[in-house]
Amino acid sequence: MLTETKVELAPTAALSVETVQSVHHWNEHLFSFSISRPDSFRFRSGEFVMIGLPGDAGKPLLRAYSVASPSYDEKLDFLSIKVADGPLTSKLQKVQPGDQIYLGRKPTGTLVADALLPGKRLFMLSTGTGLAPFLSVARDPDIYDLFDEVVIVHSVRRVSDLAYHDELSAKLADDPLVGEVAAEKFHYVPTVTREPFHTTGRIDALIESGRLFADLPSGHAFNPETDRIMMCGSMDMIKSLGAQFEAMGFPEGSNAQPGAYVIEKAFAG
Ligand SMILES: Cc1cc2nc3c(=O)[nH]c(=O)nc-3n(C[C@H](O)[C@H](O)[C@H](O)COP(=O)(O)OP(=O)(O)OC[C@H]3O[C@@H](n4cnc5c(N)ncnc54)[C@H](O)[C@@H]3O)c2cc1C
Ligand SMILES: NC(=O)c1ccc[n+]([C@@H]2O[C@H](COP(=O)([O-])OP(=O)(O)OC[C@H]3O[C@@H](n4cnc5c(N)ncnc54)[C@H](OP(=O)(O)O)[C@@H]3O)[C@@H](O)[C@H]2O)c1
Repeated sequence: MLTETKVELAPTAALSVETVQSVHHWNEHLFSFSISRPDSFRFRSGEFVMIGLPGDAGKPLLRAYSVASPSYDEKLDFLSIKVADGPLTSKLQKVQPGDQIYLGRKPTGTLVADALLPGKRLFMLSTGTGLAPFLSVARDPDIYDLFDEVVIVHSVRRVSDLAYHDELSAKLADDPLVGEVAAEKFHYVPTVTREPFHTTGRIDALIESGRLFADLPSGHAFNPETDRIMMCGSMDMIKSLGAQFEAMGFPEGSNAQPGAYVIEKAFAG
């Protein structure tokens, strides 16, 4: 029987070559994996980077991915969709520990504390894989120095799409750095829109009904003076909620000019 020979990847000026350390499949649409992190790779929690595999004719096939681990972590975690006919993810979903992968050398992004003005509550609103950057931000100790309440809202179609549900429900209790402070300041609001669950309805509906704030110690609705918002996921959600936040008096922030809310689309399309 012929065995497939694996080609050694070569680093380039823009890409290092890393090793897959672990893989976890959540369901048929979603998986997470960890890779080695080069000493030279510096990023701010919440940023994204290009990753990839060899494409046709050996040229690297790259896509943007949010780093799902915090900036102090020795490895890099990612949360990925599996698109059946997706050029990258049709292959990426098959990676195994020991496999090689390209990692871009220049992370960037706006879902960072630096792009927000000082505030009291931080809301991270996500749909689907838009959760990824917030797994990074919520496990960064610095964020708990900046905010009194740190809230992840995750909207998905099905219960099995709630990746990291158990860790987030346990308020990151096993995290050696933030476990203690997160017990007091971190809050998780999962919602499932196409199956029965204790919380259902899209994020806009949860804002409208007040459900989004119901379990928070502060309890009150959005206030542009003290609330800061990060959004990642469905482009339609970002656009419509962004317009609502603007109307409420939240200015959009960027790295150049911090504001009251920041956005990143979780995928192009
Ligand atoms: C700034 C940024 C950050 C991103 N971070 C992540 C991330 O952390 N995790 C991740 O899985 N993807 C992320 N993406 C999307 C990612 O870049 C790829 O699109 C994805 O890996 C699919 O690649 P593909 O080549 O298989 O298919 P593509 O040809 O890239 O996509 C095919 C189609 O699949 C759909 N699609 C692609 N990605 C997603 C997604 N994440 N969720 C739902 N539908 C999708 C879209 O309709 C798209 O047109 C990010 C994209 C951007 C722009
Ligand atoms: N996850 C699955 O079970 C599944 C199954 C088959 C195919 N797929 C494929 O995977 C792709 C991505 O699926 P996904 O589930 O990650 O992403 P998605 O379709 O964007 O749904 C994720 C969450 O975002 C909500 N949402 C979508 N548009 C919104 C808007 N404008 N405002 C507020 N909330 C909004 C959805 O609510 P609603 O449910 O109300 O739309 C859902 O709760 C799909 O395009 C599809 O091709 C996924």
